[in-house]
Amino acid sequence: MPVDPGTPLELPPWRPLLRGARQREGRAPGAGWLQLASVAADGTPRVRTLVFRGWSADGALELLSDARSEKPVELSGQGQVELCWLFRKAREQFRLRGIAQVLGESDAPETMLDHWQRLTPGGRSVWAWPHPGQPFEPGGPWPQEVADGASPPPHLVLIRIKILRVEQLDLKPHPHRRLCWDRGDGWVERRLNP
Ligand SMILES: Cc1cc2nc3c(=O)[nH]c(=O)nc-3n(C[C@H](O)[C@H](O)[C@H](O)COP(=O)(O)O)c2cc1C
Repeated sequence: MPVDPGTPLELPPWRPLLRGARQREGRAPGAGWLQLASVAADGTPRVRTLVFRGWSADGALELLSDARSEKPVELSGQGQVELCWLFRKAREQFRLRGIAQVLGESDAPETMLDHWQRLTPGGRSVWAWPHPGQPFEPGGPWPQEVADGASPPPHLVLIRIKILRVEQLDLKPHPHRRLCWDRGDGWVERRLNP
């Protein structure tokens, strides 16, 4: 029976599978790294690695980035994205398709502050560096840390992705298991040939 995607307490059926694969990675470096693919204004593809920052209360996937980098600009024009998340120990790949929304501090001040405070001082430092993608500036500043208690920088952005389709490929069984879920009135699961 399809699960109503509007019911906040009801997790989509693929979430426990994704959580299981994440748990299997344990504390392996890279367990929270995923690739975000988007389309640039000229129609050419872009892909880069980001850190998974969590799920919003209504089930959107959250990422943090810098408003001065290219992706927030790209996503504001064309929000269709695909994420690819590889779990090496579980030998599983998840591909998540959705629509990205880019939020600044004025859009979601409490959530942004919460994310900012949960970063380590080292993790925060990249937002204190000069404009990403510009010619290298030897003089920086290139701080290694931003202390607890510092305010979130104005160019911190939250990328919130509403997931519309998920595919899991599990290489463990023979034959490999490929499941796909589409978000309609509810989540509909199908098994596909791998
Ligand atoms: C392991 C790893 C984690 C990264 N995490 C983030 C992140 O959470 N947010 C981010 O904006 N960039 C992150 N980056 C940098 C991006 O991959 C990318 O180089 C940068 O954001 C510029 O991308 P753009 O020019 O497409 O906007 C990470 C890179 C690596 C290698």
